Amino acid sequence: MTDELDEDLLRAVSVYLKRVAADDRDAGAARRTPLGDAVSTHLGEDASLIAVVTESVADHRLVDADIALAHLAGQGGSLIGVAGGDQRMHQGFAELISNPYAPFQPGPVDYIERACGPAETRRVVSMGIWLLTFEDSPLAVLQRAASPRTGRDTATLEVVAADNDIVSAFLERLRSLMVEMSVLRRKVLSLQPTEFGHQAGATFTARPDVGADQIVLADGVLDEVVCHVIGIGRHRDELQRAGQHLKRGVLLYGPPGTGKTLTIRHLASQATDSTIVLLTGQSIRLIAYATEIARTFQPSIVVLEDIDLVAMERHSSPQPLLFEVLESLDGLEGDADVTFLMTTNRVEVLEPALAGRPGRVDLAVEIPRPGQHERERLLRRYAGELPFSDAAITSAAAATDGVTGSFAKELVRRAVLAAASAEEQVSDAHLVRVLDEIMDSRQQLTRRMLGADAEQ
Ligand SMILES: Nc1ncnc2c1ncn2[C@@H]1O[C@H](COP(=O)(O)OP(=O)(O)O)[C@@H](O)[C@H]1O
Ligand SMILES: [Mg+2]
Repeated sequence: MTDELDEDLLRAVSVYLKRVAADDRDAGAARRTPLGDAVSTHLGEDASLIAVVTESVADHRLVDADIALAHLAGQGGSLIGVAGGDQRMHQGFAELISNPYAPFQPGPVDYIERACGPAETRRVVSMGIWLLTFEDSPLAVLQRAASPRTGRDTATLEVVAADNDIVSAFLERLRSLMVEMSVLRRKVLSLQPTEFGHQAGATFTARPDVGADQIVLADGVLDEVVCHVIGIGRHRDELQRAGQHLKRGVLLYGPPGTGKTLTIRHLASQATDSTIVLLTGQSIRLIAYATEIARTFQPSIVVLEDIDLVAMERHSSPQPLLFEVLESLDGLEGDADVTFLMTTNRVEVLEPALAGRPGRVDLAVEIPRPGQHERERLLRRYAGELPFSDAAITSAAAATDGVTGSFAKELVRRAVLAAASAEEQVSDAHLVRVLDEIMDSRQQLTRRMLGADAEQ
């Protein structure tokens, strides 16, 4: 008795569900928006019945996606936008195509201006639909920039195709074009976290131009670093043939103002065929993105400046950020021509962690305070053509034991300033005077800010 009832009930429910489904299918075309009509016309099929495939794109790769899609669209393709206000931002491609509440219309394309080099920008589609043909099959791709404000953490590409089998091949081709035609390759770029904690587009800087002659370090120090970072890359084929690994981790440590950043700038100017990603302080959190760029666009250098500032902070995992960095380096294949280049003013913060995970950093170089000889060279370098006598330079160097390279530079600047204020030609006398002033006990803090030893 009860069984019979249950069966009746089940039958009734099943009939009902079938009817709902049929209604839904009929209603599909009816609910299709004018925008959905345009997409359907291109596809030669009812777009509201086709599944949407979504591909996420890191925001700093949006320019590459834009270039690759424009290339794939070629002559025959076209681009349409979506009319309407904020609402369209919150809808997926499927809801833009078919929607009982908002009849989305074709409209103007939205663009944003994105950097694609130190001095170049590109107008990139931030919301628009490419109507194109790939291997004789029509496709529509909705391209959208990340919009943390509306909850979109990454840029997306949403693809609908009349022939569903073509979508994977299309995306594969698109990804390889994004690498081939990328604006990131061989550039010097940095990544910044946004206020939402996500990652915004890339910022490009001109490749530095710092010659070896501009850096004053004890004999052999610069050579050692250059040889490890640039030399290994230069001999990549021989090393690979001999089964040796290419990836390398380099740590430059020493007090502030001794030339670590300057050395990095020199390396960047030498490694002209390398892609360089610069991360400083908080942006070191974006190490995963940087590693991905480094892996994709080899040869490459990931620079992690002043890593001690964030090394022990926790970010996305329970372990300190420094470990995340070391793990990223670990995760790279041995034959990846990638250098992780780290600098720190406080090596003691890193040492225990690095010692506990041996092998990640294969070269640690101290960039110490300059000795007497280096101080003389520094003063000479920053004096340039100024008429200081050898004796004045030697005695200034002797009087500034414990200061850094940046101190020497500032000393010369002050001497020039003192001469200019007195409307005199700069001379030894000015050098002596400013040195006396800075060494005066009341200037202790200034001295320290300029990089003199605290005990001085
Ligand atoms: N070894 C050096 N040789 C030449 N200039 C130096 C040296 N050290 C410091 N300087 C000068 O001081 C500035 C600051 O040095 P920087 O490389 O930024 O120091 P840090 O070691 O803190 O990274 C440099 O841009 C340069 O003008
Ligand atoms: Mg620095």
